[in-house]
Amino acid sequence: MKQAVSTLFLVVILALACNDSNPYRQGGNLYRMHCESCHLANGQGLGQLIPPLAGSDYLVKHREEVACVIRYGMEGPVTVNDTLYNSVMAGIPELSDVQINNIINYINHAWGNDYGASNAREVSAQLKRCPSQ
Ligand code: HEC
Repeated sequence: MKQAVSTLFLVVILALACNDSNPYRQGGNLYRMHCESCHLANGQGLGQLIPPLAGSDYLVKHREEVACVIRYGMEGPVTVNDTLYNSVMAGIPELSDVQINNIINYINHAWGNDYGASNAREVSAQLKRCPSQ
């Protein structure tokens, strides 16, 4: 009995530790999995090759397009914080609408960004209107 109780306790602790239901935490985990290799853990990007997300004016000026960039990627000239980038980002088609929304919420609030909440329903609507569709 004692062993059963401690096993149960362990299972509960593990379930809590792995809990992915917090959208911000889920967004952070997805960021680490899908974005960090290029945009880096601190969101600074990489020199002239990868634009930053930390402090990025693109996230504010192109609010409606961020979901499409994540799903379908982007290429060609883009100016972020007065620096011109001309590169390619592949899309990540396996992410669901909700996962994309959680990532946007994460990058909108990480690294001192304060770009407001993103809404799952709006993100789904934006994804239906992506030019590459
Ligand atoms: C393989 C490298 C790579 C990965 C992985 C990647 N990006 Fe990008 N990202 C880029 C590059 C390069 C550009 C600029 C493309 C261009 O010049 O047109 C870019 C541009 C962007 C932009 C628009 C410009 C800016 O800096 O605000 C956003 C937003 C963005 N990425 C978000 C993400 C998110 C979120 C993820 C993960 C879901 C991600 N990227 C994954 C390389 C990457």
